[in-house]
Amino acid sequence: MHSTDKSEVGTLPQRDSGLWGWLNRRTGLDDLLRSALDEPIPGGARFAYIFGSGLLFIFLSQIITGIFLALYYVPSADHAHTTVAYITKAVTAGSFLRSLHAYGASAMVVVLFLHLSQTYIYGAYKGRRELLWLSGCVLFGLVLAMAFTGYLLPWDQRAYFATAVGTNAVSELPWIGESIKRLMRGGTEMGTLTISRFFVAHVFLIPAFIFALVASHIFLFRKAGAAGPVNEDPYHPKQKSELFYPRQVLMDLSLTALLITGLGLLCFFVPMQLGPPANPADAQYVPRPEWYYLPIFQWLKYWHGSAAIVGVLVIPTLLVLAILALPFLDKSVERRPWKRPAAMGAYVFVLFSLVGLGLRSQYLDRHDSGVAQQLAKQRAEEDEYARKPFEPELSSASLVAANVALADPLAAKGKTIFEGQSCNACHGDNGLGTAAAPPLVGIKAKFSPDQVAELFKHPTAKMNAGGMPPIDLPPDDLKALIAYVESLK
Ligand code: HEC
Repeated sequence: MHSTDKSEVGTLPQRDSGLWGWLNRRTGLDDLLRSALDEPIPGGARFAYIFGSGLLFIFLSQIITGIFLALYYVPSADHAHTTVAYITKAVTAGSFLRSLHAYGASAMVVVLFLHLSQTYIYGAYKGRRELLWLSGCVLFGLVLAMAFTGYLLPWDQRAYFATAVGTNAVSELPWIGESIKRLMRGGTEMGTLTISRFFVAHVFLIPAFIFALVASHIFLFRKAGAAGPVNEDPYHPKQKSELFYPRQVLMDLSLTALLITGLGLLCFFVPMQLGPPANPADAQYVPRPEWYYLPIFQWLKYWHGSAAIVGVLVIPTLLVLAILALPFLDKSVERRPWKRPAAMGAYVFVLFSLVGLGLRSQYLDRHDSGVAQQLAKQRAEEDEYARKPFEPELSSASLVAANVALADPLAAKGKTIFEGQSCNACHGDNGLGTAAAPPLVGIKAKFSPDQVAELFKHPTAKMNAGGMPPIDLPPDDLKALIAYVESLK
């Protein structure tokens, strides 16, 4: 910490009496607060410096909204989607809460990028700030990892297929790619183990690292001191400094107020959608990642076959290494952007590449009529699902009822056929339904036995699309199967 001269000290009145005084004598809280707020800023408070505390605010908001979501969420392939549907459709302000968390992630990426840009353009990484820069880079990676792991958790179509693509992209890495993919998925396919792993990473592991790194980032920042404006010496600031409190605090709070208002309005008027539950059998689904992953998504499209190693491993690794090594490579004390054409050129190049790749991806989607149609269809399905009221999961009571019905020996035989033909793979045990196919319980009210037989002979387009295999059974078995299906209550 910097030594402060007399004129800078004492913006807060010291309170020695009462509860606060007692607390301070026991804990030193007042002194702690004082030293936190009396950080000198060379050259004075500026709006350019507000992004760091903006990030801290969003992080706090993500923790709080995340805790509320976790009160309802169940991390399993059977229940994840239902519990998120319950949050959005049944819980008071649940949709607003979930939107805050989901849009908060986007806001985090935006403010993080602004914070990084400000640090880079102001040359604020210079002057013994290598560790500060490195901890910031790791935090950037961790935030992207949070966004990636959180995206899967609702287990709707969008989440499922985006993560399928994401984990497949990882498997493109040479040598270790397949193993990492299996590690992430908890197997070769995506299911409850995948959700479990993503959940643990999203809720326990990554946040623990983020806490540790945020603490070290702030510690290192205070140790190095604020870098100040671009014409300030990064090692030995000479300009007259102003304390963090009150003007910089107020400026920082203005960003917080803007974020609260912006996110609040967005979440209220355009709540985050939840699509229909994941259906791994849906071969038509066109996956698209969240907007901030679009540039990477588009980038990966260009690298196939033997060139993949360049695009997937070599270039990204070099880029990441260059970013990490920046304060070690760029040792000059010059901070003014107009005197650092190479650094600014690199920044503009990276920025334009990211925006260009993102726009290119959007452009291709709009101009490929097949893709555009399918994406429109997916959006329509999401809207349709969003309008439906909440449907609770079938309880174990209906499961018992389904088994009681098997007093009928024909239906009992049908049950073994149902399982032998792997109907339960899609329609669930006891016909209770899965993400891949609807429940069959209560089908009796919909179709008579003859109609079911007819349906088996001439499956609907939806059955075909869902990958339901044609039923080719001897007449007796078919009769038993139909009796069983009809007995499902
Ligand atoms: C690969 C997954 C899959 C398998 C295996 C499968 N189904 Fe289906 N089934 C579906 C899909 C998808 C639908 C259509 C759902 C819709 O209309 O939305 C369907 C529809 C049905 C329907 C009509 C339901 C309704 O409410 O319209 C019946 C009856 C049915 N299946 C019975 C069976 C039986 C019996 C078996 C075993 C021989 C079986 N299914 C195996 C996926 C499957």
